[in-house]
Amino acid sequence: MHEELTSRVVLITGASAGIGAATARELARAGCRLALAARRTERLEELAQELRARHNSEVFVHAVDLQEADQVGGMVEAVFRRFGRLDVLINNAGLLRMAPLLAMPLDEMEQLMNTNFWAVVHAVRAAAPLMARQGGGHIINVASVVSRRGLPYMAVYAATKWALAGLTESVRVELAAENIRFTTVYPGAIDTDMPRNLDRSRLPASYPNHGRSRVPPERVAQAIARAVRRQPLEVYVPAWLRYAAWGCAIFPALMDHYLRRHYKTRA
Ligand SMILES: NC(=O)c1ccc[n+]([C@@H]2O[C@H](COP(=O)([O-])OP(=O)(O)OC[C@H]3O[C@@H](n4cnc5c(N)ncnc54)[C@H](OP(=O)(O)O)[C@@H]3O)[C@@H](O)[C@H]2O)c1
Repeated sequence: MHEELTSRVVLITGASAGIGAATARELARAGCRLALAARRTERLEELAQELRARHNSEVFVHAVDLQEADQVGGMVEAVFRRFGRLDVLINNAGLLRMAPLLAMPLDEMEQLMNTNFWAVVHAVRAAAPLMARQGGGHIINVASVVSRRGLPYMAVYAATKWALAGLTESVRVELAAENIRFTTVYPGAIDTDMPRNLDRSRLPASYPNHGRSRVPPERVAQAIARAVRRQPLEVYVPAWLRYAAWGCAIFPALMDHYLRRHYKTRA
């Protein structure tokens, strides 16, 4: 178990907003050296300036479009060039698009898969050999509670997050001998731009508003910072979701019954 975070080099994807930005603030406070990646570099620069001013942090900003496979490997290499090592890779960036499966265009499905799944595959394949060479590392993949129970109108998003959870479970055993640890983070409904900016025009008018039950992104950031220290296999935020996920696995029909009522999809 590693308790000390000071000077650890951490790459956070999707650091320009939401959970990623909150995680950067949390880890800067703990003394980590940070690499922040996303497309909106002006936001990253602003955050970097804030962290330098507030915590005297060493921060590197890298522009990346994770939809582009070759840019993902380039991001990992750039961080290695800048710091000479990478202790923690946090694959946090993600994309949410919701629509009935039959109405979702194929190219949108591809964008979801590219951002939420393939980008992580490319990042892990780029980072793992370099981490192995330096003696080990820690990869944190931000999945979702829908990695454990699919929800209506999220079929493809849920599929990308199931794929990510499956990838992480498999590879964490595969790469244990290289001293590369993996953590899967399963957030529930979090109060970020992702749900706030959702295009509801493609959802039925009866689609429920979950706004009031959302958890602040700082809660996820604190859980991720704890995970950097303790390297658990899985983190649920809020923590009770772990038991909800068990319940869904044991009683799928009961959960379907509840969801049909909640989402008003009964015949
Ligand atoms: N919010 C929730 O309720 C919730 C629940 C469960 C899981 N999650 C997961 O938590 C993670 C963070 O979500 P969030 O709520 O913080 O979302 P958010 O506020 O929308 O932020 C998403 C981040 O991902 C980055 N990103 C998206 N597409 C990208 C691309 N092609 N290339 C590079 N960066 C890209 C965005 O940066 P740029 O736009 O600047 O590129 C942004 O920094 C995601 O993986 C999400 O699926 C969220």
